[in-house]
Amino acid sequence: MSDLKIPSHVGIIMDGNGRWAEKRGKKRSYGHRVGSENVERVVEHAFKVGVKSLTLYAFSSENWARPKEEVDELMRLLKNYFKKFISKVLKNGVRLKVVGGRAELSDDLIKVIDECEDMSKDNTEHYLNIALNYGGRQEVVAVVNKLIGEGKAVTVDSISENLYTAASGEPDLIIRTGGEYRLSNFLLYQGAYSELYFTDVLWPDFDEIELDKAIDSFGKRKRRFGKVL
Ligand code: FPP
Repeated sequence: MSDLKIPSHVGIIMDGNGRWAEKRGKKRSYGHRVGSENVERVVEHAFKVGVKSLTLYAFSSENWARPKEEVDELMRLLKNYFKKFISKVLKNGVRLKVVGGRAELSDDLIKVIDECEDMSKDNTEHYLNIALNYGGRQEVVAVVNKLIGEGKAVTVDSISENLYTAASGEPDLIIRTGGEYRLSNFLLYQGAYSELYFTDVLWPDFDEIELDKAIDSFGKRKRRFGKVL
């Protein structure tokens, strides 16, 4: 990777697990399993090259409509991931936050999430936000309702300050794997000025080299934030 600017906050839409598995004549769930293993390698590499915060789209508010078997497998993989996270938490300096609605999640999943968040709450080296049962529109509605409930003014800044990912700042770069060119309700408000990077590479194949390519591409962009520079 060339010595270019490193984005502080990167969001990733990890798309293509299903197609990756189908191409190999396997069930979609197998793709999610390999995809979840890939999460570990990409997170590790991103933090190693200097990314401060990562927000990963693991399960959208709309994903409940998938076949039950697939949803169950994704929840199982997430639970395993969080359990593993706990065992590493003291040495990795990462603060984990799960962003999205909790009400629909199972009690045992909520328990392990609470444990991860609680155990890592004093870590400040890196932020890892897992978007689970997440929707960007739903997030904005929740924040606006919270502000109204607290009798506070609804402004661009007050919304920004209360977004689930506020501690990480706005994403500098949003990556989508899997060849589709859309945001699918991911980080809609905080992504207003994010640089977007799309690749045909399917998520299980998105390795360290592919992440370096995305970061290199980011480093070459001229960010204007709506101004003339
Ligand atoms: C999109 O692929 C991927 C998902 C809906 C889930 C992403 C989940 C993981 C990578 C694994 C679990 C996550 C963590 C953090 C441990 P798709 O199923 O839409 O693939 P397709 O577009 O090929 O059908």
